[in-house]
Amino acid sequence: MPPVKQTILVTGGAGYIGSHAVMALQHAGYEVVILDNLVYGHRDLVEKLEVELIVGDTSDRVLLDELFATKKIAAVMHFSAYAYVGESVTEPAKYYRNNVIGTLTLLEAMVAASVNKFVFSSTCATYGVPHQIPITEEHPQSPINPYGATKLMVERILKDFSPAYGLQSVCFRYFNAAGADPNGLLGEDHNPETHLIPLVLQTALGQRESVSIYGTDYPTPDGTCVRDYIHVTDLADAHILGLKYLMQGGETTVFNLGNGNGFSVKQVIDTAQTVTGKEIKVESSDRRPGDPPILVGSSEKARKILGWEPQYSDLKDIITHAWRWHQQRHG
Ligand SMILES: NC(=O)c1ccc[n+]([C@@H]2O[C@H](COP(=O)([O-])OP(=O)(O)OC[C@H]3O[C@@H](n4cnc5c(N)ncnc54)[C@H](O)[C@@H]3O)[C@@H](O)[C@H]2O)c1
Repeated sequence: MPPVKQTILVTGGAGYIGSHAVMALQHAGYEVVILDNLVYGHRDLVEKLEVELIVGDTSDRVLLDELFATKKIAAVMHFSAYAYVGESVTEPAKYYRNNVIGTLTLLEAMVAASVNKFVFSSTCATYGVPHQIPITEEHPQSPINPYGATKLMVERILKDFSPAYGLQSVCFRYFNAAGADPNGLLGEDHNPETHLIPLVLQTALGQRESVSIYGTDYPTPDGTCVRDYIHVTDLADAHILGLKYLMQGGETTVFNLGNGNGFSVKQVIDTAQTVTGKEIKVESSDRRPGDPPILVGSSEKARKILGWEPQYSDLKDIITHAWRWHQQRHG
């Protein structure tokens, strides 16, 4: 008899990063159940993956108790959250309710059901304005917006749940997720879109007039902000390694997930022009408050402890895969 597959619950699996993680889990031989309220998720992505979707909310304790009672869940990967920084400033209650209370409800249901392995999507936004580059996991965390604060609160909850309830977790602090499944099955489809690469590609497709560059006088080589873009497939692979780490008895810990190389806004636009062969109209605007000049992470810890080796660190690969996806999805 073939070995029984372990089942992983993936919250937010109908979203951008979650759907890529579901695909990686399937390739690694796991069974997957997705819990997504479809507020931002896409049913058609789930259908492509041919995986069970439970449409529901992480704050629904009754649903969670039933789910854990009826399915033998070995671990939870938790991607679901609201992630619009600007909106979190104007509507913080929405963010604390979903990202903190929703997660706490899920964690309490896990403890009650004795499911004790958890992989969490945290963010480099928990660091705030960096004092040193590259940012390591030891860098002080001082978020400058409610979104980052919600993620830091969950990190704290996880730290406390480990000794108290034996719930072991891996927190991944992502830098900027980018790119798409190299085979073109999945990709990024946020609405509204706020991420630079999709905005640039939508401009290349003629769906936007121009791309705004916020600040051209930063102390960086070309004056525009430098960010760390990490390919979503590399992120998904790290989640499999994080899960295996926990399955092998690894203790609660935190890893940065970034490319290690920074790319400026201008570099992204230039590379996108090369990849798409289209001229991309640019408008220069003032700096936005709270945008540090450079945000680049060190992922040495994930490389060393998990053996993570990102495959697509080249900006051209990241944009090529994203462009393929955007053309078929929105072209
Ligand atoms: N995209 C990035 O660059 C980035 C960077 C750092 C951290 N993150 C984190 O990674 C995670 C995934 O990001 P993404 O870009 O894939 O976002 P996404 O919006 O594409 O996916 C999130 C999914 O969660 C679902 N969801 C939201 N609240 C829910 C709830 N209460 N119950 C059930 N489902 C719910 C949404 O419908 C959506 O499908 C988020 O937690 C985000 O904060 C993302």
